[in-house]
Amino acid sequence: MASAEESKRWVRMMTAQTPTNIAVIKYWGKRDETLILPVNDSISVTLDPDHLCTTTTVAVSPSFEEDRMWLNGKEISLSGGRFQSCLREIRRRAGDVEDREKGLRIGKSDWEKLHLHIASFNNFPTAAGLASSAAGFACLVFALAKLMNAKEDQSQLSAIARQGSGSACRSLFGGFVKWIMGNDKDGSDSLAVQLAHDKHWDDLVIIIAVVSSRQKETSSTSGMRESVETSLLLQHRVKEVVPKRIVQMEEAIKNHDFASFAQLTCADSNQFHAVCLDTCPPIFYMNDTSHRIINCVEKWNRLEGTPQVAYTFDAGPNAVLISRDRKAAVQLLQRLLFYFPPNSDTDLNSYVIGDKSILKDA
Ligand code: ADP
Ligand code: DP6
Ligand code: CO
Repeated sequence: MASAEESKRWVRMMTAQTPTNIAVIKYWGKRDETLILPVNDSISVTLDPDHLCTTTTVAVSPSFEEDRMWLNGKEISLSGGRFQSCLREIRRRAGDVEDREKGLRIGKSDWEKLHLHIASFNNFPTAAGLASSAAGFACLVFALAKLMNAKEDQSQLSAIARQGSGSACRSLFGGFVKWIMGNDKDGSDSLAVQLAHDKHWDDLVIIIAVVSSRQKETSSTSGMRESVETSLLLQHRVKEVVPKRIVQMEEAIKNHDFASFAQLTCADSNQFHAVCLDTCPPIFYMNDTSHRIINCVEKWNRLEGTPQVAYTFDAGPNAVLISRDRKAAVQLLQRLLFYFPPNSDTDLNSYVIGDKSILKDA
C-alpha cells in the first residue's frame, strides 16, 4: 500500500450535510471572544435538513499547495481565527486513514503536511439571520472529522464547531439541543448536548417566513459584542432571566407542554430584540413586516385562548414560526398567505415549511 507521500495523484473527499438550528432560548453575548464562550446557556431546535441546510465537501490531496475554501461558489479567505481554530483542532485529533480502494495509507502525522480544499453551499440565504454560520461551521467540522478519521463524540466535535460560530455547536445534534455555557477557562466544558432526539414531539411543524434574504447590516458577532459592552438589560437577562427560562424550557420540551413552550419562546425572542434596542447604538434586526407577523400570531393565540403558534426571530427580520400541530400549521399558512401574500407590498418573499431532523452524511 502506498503511503500518503508516495503518489501526488490521489484525492480523498468527504461530503456532509448539516441543517441549521433556531434558538428558542437565545445565545447573545460572549465572555471569551476567541474561544467563543457564551454568557448564558441556550436551547435550540434543529431543523429538517431537506429545507435549510449546508452541504460541504472537503478534499485532501498531496497536489494541493495550500488550504482553500469556496463558499457558495466564491473563494473566501481561511486566514480568519475561526477557520484556523477549527482546522487546527481537527488536525490535532486526526487519525490514521486506510483507503483500500485507492491503495492508500494516510498516517496521523501526515495531516499536518497535507492541504485541504473545501467547497460549501448553503441552500438558504447566507448571513441573513437564518443561522448560516451554525449550519456552516457544524458541517465543516463534521466533514473534516470524517475525512481525517478524528474519533471524537458529537459533543466533543460541538466544542470545536463552537470555535467557528457559537450557534454551530448546537447543529451537531438533531432534535432539541442545549449549549451548556460551561465554567472552564479553556472552554472544554462549553459544549452541546441533545435534550431530546429528532422524533421527540413530532407534532410540531416549523414554518419560516422569509421576510428578507439580504445580508444583515450588523453581524451577530459584532452585534452581541456591542450588547455586552453597553446593555444593562443584557446583564439582567443573563443573571436573572435566562437561568430560570432554561429550566422551564427543558420541562416544557420534556412534557410536550406547548403553552409553556410558546410563552417562553416568544418572550425570549422579544427580550433578545429588546436587548438589541438597549444596545448603544441600538440594533434593529426586525422590521415592520416582522412586527406585523408578531401581532398576527399574538392576536390569533389570544383568540384561541391557548397558543397555536410560537414565533422567534434571530438576528434578522425573518420569522421562525413553530405551530403546535399540522392543523395549526395549515391555519397559520392560510393566515400568512392572506395577510402577507408573497410578492405583495410587504417584503415577505417566500415560506419554507419543515420538520425537525438530524444531521446526515450525504
Ligand atoms: P447568520 O445569521 O446567517 O448565522 P452570521 O452573521 O452569524 O449570520 O454569520 C455569517 C457568516 O457565517 C458568513 O459571513 C460566513 O463567514 C459564515 N458562514 C456562512 N455559511 C457558511 C458555510 N457554509 N461555511 C462556513 N462558514 C459559513
Ligand atoms: C441570535 O452564533 O451567529 O442566532 O458565535 O459570533 O458566530 P458567533 O454568533 P452566532 O450568534 C447567534 C445569535 C442568535 C441566537 C442563537 O442562535 O442562539
Ligand atoms: Co450566525
